[in-house]
Amino acid sequence: MNTSGEHDESVVVLDFGAQYAQLIARRIRECRVYSAIVPSNRSAAEIAAMRPKGIVFSGGPASVYEENAPSCDPALYESGIPILGICYGMQLMARQLGGDVAPGQIREYGKAELRIESTADLFRGFDERVVIAWMSHGDAVMRPPHGFHVTARTATHIAAMSDPRRKLFGVQFHPEVVHTPRGMEIFRNFLYGQCGCRGLWTPSSIVEEACEAIRKQVRDGRMILALSGGVDSSVVAAMAYRAIGDQLVCVFVDHGLLREGEAQQVVDTFTTHFRVNLIHVRAEDRFLRKLAGLTDPEQKRMIIGREFITIFEEEARKLGDIRYLAQGTLYPDVIESGTGAAAVIKSHHNVGGLPEEMGLELVEPLRNLFKDEVRAVAQELGLPDEIVWRQPFPGPGLAVRILGEVTPERLATLRRVDRIIIEEITRAGFYRKLFQAFGVLAPIRSVGVMGDQRTYGETVIVRAVAGDDAMTADWADLPHDVLAMISNRVVNEVKGVSRVVYDITSKPPATIEWE
Ligand code: XMP
Repeated sequence: MNTSGEHDESVVVLDFGAQYAQLIARRIRECRVYSAIVPSNRSAAEIAAMRPKGIVFSGGPASVYEENAPSCDPALYESGIPILGICYGMQLMARQLGGDVAPGQIREYGKAELRIESTADLFRGFDERVVIAWMSHGDAVMRPPHGFHVTARTATHIAAMSDPRRKLFGVQFHPEVVHTPRGMEIFRNFLYGQCGCRGLWTPSSIVEEACEAIRKQVRDGRMILALSGGVDSSVVAAMAYRAIGDQLVCVFVDHGLLREGEAQQVVDTFTTHFRVNLIHVRAEDRFLRKLAGLTDPEQKRMIIGREFITIFEEEARKLGDIRYLAQGTLYPDVIESGTGAAAVIKSHHNVGGLPEEMGLELVEPLRNLFKDEVRAVAQELGLPDEIVWRQPFPGPGLAVRILGEVTPERLATLRRVDRIIIEEITRAGFYRKLFQAFGVLAPIRSVGVMGDQRTYGETVIVRAVAGDDAMTADWADLPHDVLAMISNRVVNEVKGVSRVVYDITSKPPATIEWE
């Protein structure tokens, strides 16, 4: 980063409403180039002021011929900044520069074979002349604008075009999806070959930049952070500690709803490895008292969220002169918060979601980062693997995985169950591949038989989901021997559980958690 706060090397992703804009931005960053998503109606002057090395037009659901179809400032083409248009982005470029776009003879959807006609720019290094790419379009470019030539075709359509003089490029397919196996090479050819990027966005540069920004914002003030032990708040803690040392105070509100050994690990990591100012509030009794007798999921969530904030505020008050509050907000939250309010499905409790009345200025060092970057930064900062690779865990903890009343006994039962599930999932090599895997304790009793004895115990639901983010997730098709091992161990090792079932519902329609 230079002194004016701009990135030395960044690429703008112009968002035409595709679900792929985020994915494009992530892929560019995987090439170690900083990327920022920008709405398509920004003026060329505003975009040029960001001094990007390149611009990528995303795909989008519209047709360039629709009324009010999203467009961009045509002055961009004269800016001298290299542009890569993807799908809708290529069609828009073609139309704005005088080419022809029309509904394709057939709609191309899914994998297509591409015949490469030029390896001079985007397809540099492509020795085979036929490659696979993923298509999803109705319209197509029928005739490229003046100055362009076709660089790849499918059997029916123009698949890519280039104007090397103006450094304008288009691809009809989606290089950002995994179904385009050589998509990353196309991005690299654009970024390194055409935009002159060098790959300066690395975990160490991210840390350096974030630390600098924290120091600049906080100066000699004191900052408080609610540390949960999740990767986001842990990275904020380690980063802020590096930036401002003792001016940071971490408050770990231990609500007693964590998994086995988790609280100890948070405390050990941050007091022995990092020696941060850590206040460990042991509040299990307080939370359990409040939860006693409650069975309604929303009530449970509200009580936990409220109690958490009360305790955090108490601690902040005791500390006195705190002016800043650090939060682990990520880039997807920043992008999504611009898109209006979605229906509240569950009232999420985030340790960051603290009330405005506290009057503290927010410090959000991760607000430019995607989750995979947060993990890379976590490694760079030297956080232990258990934290770096920890699967997401809900703020209200095991309370939303214990259906019905939360009691110390049921908590102990679920902790044992959870340990077994994680052990077996890890042993089988699935821990990092799954988005989440956990157990749910259901207040459903069923009759069983063990030895010659009749049993009448509770039910454990095993939940394992795969996916890239929490918006959608597929139930994981785990090997039967892994499920069998989990089932055997749970009923044999955990007293009071007599049945294990596997949840085979995806999200949507179900949510990942049960409450
Ligand atoms: P659902 O169950 O809504 O969960 O599909 C989506 C993701 O969010 C996690 N989750 C939470 N995370 N505070 C959080 O920080 C919460 O209150 C909360 N509730 C659910 C859940 O584990 C999944 O990863």
